[in-house]
Parts: sequence; structure tokens; C-alpha cells
Amino acid sequence: MNQEKVIVIDFGGQYNQLVARRVRECNVYCEIYSYKTDIAQIKAMNPKGIILTGGPNSCYEEGAPGCTRELFELGVPVLGLCYGAQLMMHVLGGKVEKAPVREYGKTQVHVNTQSPLFADVAPTTICWMSHFDYISQIAPGFEVIAHTADCPVAAAQNASAALYAIQFHPEVLHTQEGTKMLFNFVRNVCGCAGTWKMDAFVENSIKAIREKVGKGKVLCALSGGVDSSVAAVMLAKAIGDQLTCVFVDHGLLRKNEGDEVEAVFGPNGPYNLNFIRVNAQDRFYVKLAGYDEPEQKRKIIGEEFIRVFEEEAKKIGAVDFLVQGTIYPDVVESGLGGESAVIKSHHNVGGLPDCVDFKEIIEPLRDLFKDEVRKAGLELGLPEHLVYRQPFPGPGLGIRIIGEVTAEKVKIVQDADYIYREEIAKAGLERTVGQYFAALTNMRSVGVMGDERTYDYAVALRAVNTIDFMTAECADVPFEVLQKVMSRIINEVRGVNRVFYDLTSKPPGTIEFE
Ligand code: XMP
Repeated sequence: MNQEKVIVIDFGGQYNQLVARRVRECNVYCEIYSYKTDIAQIKAMNPKGIILTGGPNSCYEEGAPGCTRELFELGVPVLGLCYGAQLMMHVLGGKVEKAPVREYGKTQVHVNTQSPLFADVAPTTICWMSHFDYISQIAPGFEVIAHTADCPVAAAQNASAALYAIQFHPEVLHTQEGTKMLFNFVRNVCGCAGTWKMDAFVENSIKAIREKVGKGKVLCALSGGVDSSVAAVMLAKAIGDQLTCVFVDHGLLRKNEGDEVEAVFGPNGPYNLNFIRVNAQDRFYVKLAGYDEPEQKRKIIGEEFIRVFEEEAKKIGAVDFLVQGTIYPDVVESGLGGESAVIKSHHNVGGLPDCVDFKEIIEPLRDLFKDEVRKAGLELGLPEHLVYRQPFPGPGLGIRIIGEVTAEKVKIVQDADYIYREEIAKAGLERTVGQYFAALTNMRSVGVMGDERTYDYAVALRAVNTIDFMTAECADVPFEVLQKVMSRIINEVRGVNRVFYDLTSKPPGTIEFE
């Protein structure tokens, strides 16, 4: 399928997918394999280059993940990163030991710009170091091509054998010229032409899905969010009629969202995915009545979602495959990422499979980062407003209404949020603010409108900038935009007489209100 392929061999580092992603950014196709993969299999894949990732072990310890000398004698360029670099030296006759000084963080590195790996890189640049062990002696045939104050071998090469070792992490953005170094390796050292694009990923995935599914039946829970939408459309393109998509409208979606999802994926839209919309709004409102505790609300919404989905799945009967829109960050956080360690369980992974009678899960986006999923979505022809939509929590507006959820409150927050989004778009801030939405506080206060006394709800506006959603800062939305939103909400949304702007960062706040 791909003539040009670089193989990343995973030794359990946290950044293994990031390495693959950077290679893809150089327009070179890339796949990740465990270090346990047989050398014959690697050879059969005919890679243009091999990259060995970092990992948590010490390569000289017994039982540490390893590789054979043969890997370096295939005539294929090899780049070892961190653990991979140490392993290369260890296997080829150099020496790796516990470092007298542990290096961690941004570090100044001096590189030999004569090396093909460092072509166009500044002689002194910043790299990201994270290691306990260090290369105390390079292997025969190698020369040192970079060093730091504490690390005599920050990089080494045996240029005639096309073997390169880098102690630091070029794949993380803290290494200022890291992408250039990886580009130098895959494009210049390995000689890849750089013709791979997202359309090839989409095309290959569709082909692979077809082969895997055969004549089987496939079920997909479609939320209308970016990930499940892209996964569903990819499946639809691959296997058409054999796919059924169930969309549960739990009555906690943004204004018009249920209809928008139906317009794109339903029978009148461009895709053929046997779209079933379940209007379960009232069921959710009944279940939520009387509850105001956030965790309880989340649990009720999650459980009811599974019940509704289960009922629909039963109607369809046994299926062969269940599609999940899992993307790479979900995999890492859940500790399922190949050789990596568990960081935390993720709320989007698990849950559904237990209630469906199926044989296997298909996760076509499992290797992609969010922005890559978006690119794949565009490639598949999904409309931009869907591809670039805001993250939206599974429990929906249920956790943006503080206290008890009622149909009346849902309507208020939907209308307020709609106005807010409209004004943010008009101000051209849609793509610059990370996440923004309106929430309904549980507070009512006295106001005056016309000559009347009012006793109505307060809406809170939230807008944050964030890179990873683990931390966030309040976004600097211009005051005139906020004022316009405030005045429109008060005038247009019945039941609201006050609007607040939430200045809290995360931590100590969270992005959502509950
Ligand atoms: P918090 O509120 O934890 O939100 O700061 C961080 C990011 O996660 C989203 N979020 C969720 N997404 N199910 C989801 O799919 C959930 O239960 C959930 N809770 C929060 C939130 O919108 C933000 O982007």
C-alpha cells in the first residue's frame, strides 16, 4: 500500500505516538510496532528508516526491552531516541551507565552542524532532556555530534552505516529544532520523498476496514462530536449499508444540535449510514428530576445513555463489530498505548461495549491526534462546522446547568449559549478561543426590566484558552463583545436578568461547571 514507510519501534516511552506524528508531519508514512516484533517481519515491511523510541528502563539491566545487532545491519537507516539511543550504543559495543547528574527539562545543546542530522540547525539550540542513564562511551565507528554541559554524548553518529543516536527528545516541542532534526532524518538520511498525505491515511484506512469487516455488520454510537463523526463517515465510505449509526438525543445538546446532526448524517444527508435518531429527551429529564449533585447527575446521564443505546442495539441484534471514535490521547490517558504506562482512566473509553453483543471493536482513529482527526474529517468531506466544533462533554448541558436539570433550564442555557456562540463568531474569535460556552447558575436574583421587578436566573459565560485541557486560562474576550452578548441574552432569553463572566483559571476551577 505504501512504498515509503518509516517504522517506529516502541520501547514504552510516553512520546512514542508523538514521534510517529512528527514523521507524518514530514509527509512520510509511519507505523508503530512493539520492540517484540520479529526482525524478519520488520525486514519484510521494507522500511526506508527505523526509529527507536525512548522508554523507562535501563538498557543494561537484565530483562530490559532490547533488540538484536541485526536490526542495525539491515542496511536501513536507524535513529535511536533517548532509550533507543542508549540501546543502540549498548548493542553495538558502547557503554551506558547511570548518569552522575540526572538531566531533565529544557537544556542547551551544542550540535555539529556538519552532521546530516543537524543540517540547518543552529550550533547551539534548546533540547528536551529526560534521562537517568547516559552514554559514557560511544560504540566503535561512531563519533559524537552533540553535547550538553552535563551530557558528553547528546548525539552520536556512524554516518557511513546511517546510524544515529540522540539522547534528547526531538519529538517534543520543547526541543526547538526537533522537527527539523526528524525531517533531516526521514527526508535526507532515509531519502523519503515526502509524498504521504492525510488522503493516503484515509484511503488506506478505508481499504483496511473493508478487508477486516468483510460482509460483517457494524454498529456505531454517533454523538455528532468530531471523533465519532469522522469514524462513522470513514466506516460509511468503507462498508456502506453494513453500518448502522445510533444517535441518542438526550435533550442536553446545544440548541438545534440534534437537527444539525440529523441533517448531515440522516437519510437526507450525503452519507449512507443507516442513521437512527433516538429522541430520548423526556426519559433523561424524568430520570434527572430532583437531583442536583454533580456526580449523581453525571452517573444518571451516563447510565441512561447506555440503557437507551442497549435497547436500540437489541433491535438491531448481534453485530460483528462496534465502532469507537477513540483517538490517541484517550488511549494514552487510559494506559492502553502499546508499551506505555497508565496515567489515568478516561471517561470516553469503555462503558458502551458491555451492553452490545459484538465480536470486535474497530477504532479507526486510534493513532491520530485531534488535529489529525480534523484533517481526516476534511479529507472525508465532512462540513467545516462539524470538523472544527468545540469539545462538548458527554453529559452535555447537564453539567452546564448547576443544580437540578429541567426542560425549562435546558432551553434557557441553549438560547443563551447560542447567542454567545453567534457573537464570538461575528467577532472572528471562533478559532482563537479554546473553548467557550454559557452555563446556567442556580442563582436567581432581583432585577428590574421596563418598570417591572424581575426575579430571574443568572447566566455565566466561560471562555478559556488551553493546550491540553488539563490546565486553562480565562480567555481575553473583548469587553464590547461580552457587553453585546450580555445585552442580547437579557433581551432575548426569557428567565435571565443577569450575566456573569467567569475569570477563573484551571486549576483551581475546572473548565466545565460540574
Ligand atoms: P474539565 O471540566 O474537567 O474539562 O476541566 C476538561 C475538558 O473535558 C471536557 N469534559 C468532558 N468530556 N465527557 C467528555 O466527553 C465528560 O464527562 C467531560 N467532562 C468534561 C470539557 O468539556 C473540557 O473540554
